[in-house]
Amino acid sequence: MRIFSGIQPTGRKHLGNYIGAIRQYVEGQDRGDPAIYCIVDLHAISVAWDPAELRSNLYDTTAILLASGLDPDRCVLFRQSDVREHTELCWLLSSVTSHGDLNRMHQFKDKSSKQRELVSAALFFYPVLQAADVLAYRAEEVPVGEDQRQHVELMREIARRFNERFGEILVEPDHRIPEIGARIMDLQDPTSKMSTTGGSEQGTVYVLDEPAAIEKKFRSAVTDSGQGIVRGEGKEGIANLIEILSVIRGLEPSAIEEEFASAGYGDFKSAVAEATSEFLAPVRERYSEIRPDEKALDEVLSAGAERAAEMASVVLDEARSAMGLGPGSG
Ligand code: TYM
Repeated sequence: MRIFSGIQPTGRKHLGNYIGAIRQYVEGQDRGDPAIYCIVDLHAISVAWDPAELRSNLYDTTAILLASGLDPDRCVLFRQSDVREHTELCWLLSSVTSHGDLNRMHQFKDKSSKQRELVSAALFFYPVLQAADVLAYRAEEVPVGEDQRQHVELMREIARRFNERFGEILVEPDHRIPEIGARIMDLQDPTSKMSTTGGSEQGTVYVLDEPAAIEKKFRSAVTDSGQGIVRGEGKEGIANLIEILSVIRGLEPSAIEEEFASAGYGDFKSAVAEATSEFLAPVRERYSEIRPDEKALDEVLSAGAERAAEMASVVLDEARSAMGLGPGSG
């Protein structure tokens, strides 16, 4: 099973990224043939960015992934801009992508309304590049959180349209969205997803947060004025905490509800804070060992890029040729 996923080099990955995606990447390494993980710096330039920060954030994200358990001997880990096939395939696919479909993308609507200076054409094109990322490898499975569902549906549609016109060259991938933890919510606003750009600082738990910061964030998490550690209407805050703890403990949410049936909100929040701290501590510790050696990180990324380019160039050659680009074989 060929697995592919991408993650933005925001540097500060949060608990939602970790639970919704990174833990799935780690799990996929031994199922993947291979499992391919890409840090998408080209996607990052679709909104305002600082060049020096982008490069440094890319190392941060690489180190977080390695610290979380990605092993370059068991997966392919690389930087998107190192593999030129992604941008080339993006253009090829744009010829079979409907403008109307791109206009319907929720993420474009959300992000474009937040841009203060420029809503770039790159932001509009973002899902086409994302489709190219996956389709260049004929990946079958795409581990992501819930917010990427629509983008994976679009890449299926693009692959279908391409194949109808040019022959069976691309593979329609399936998303892999976890049953629990696919949409971790902001602790201060449990009706919005936890997010680096849209969320509140106090409501976002970062993978690299110190235990004291984690505790403070959970202690001030917004809940409701009622009581009872149960999920339900008007209890989004508590439901989010139940979900977080159930992922960390590897239990069903109902088991968490039973365990804390007679607990108050304060005790429950402390339990979730403590479990989260313990859960993230090994990642933070390994990160501080890995991050300083940028040369070693570069070596991992360039070895990954070499393997990735080898796979992607095969698909690109077939796609170009079927589309009538370049010289003919006769
Ligand atoms: P990014 O970097 O924003 O997010 C990385 C992964 O984290 C998931 N995620 C969440 N999961 C649960 N709860 C949350 N609150 C939460 N917030 C984010 C995302 O669903 C994602 O899986 N467009 C992608 C990057 C990308 C990509 C790809 C993904 C580029 N090319 C190809 C898959 C395949 C993104 O914005 O990731």
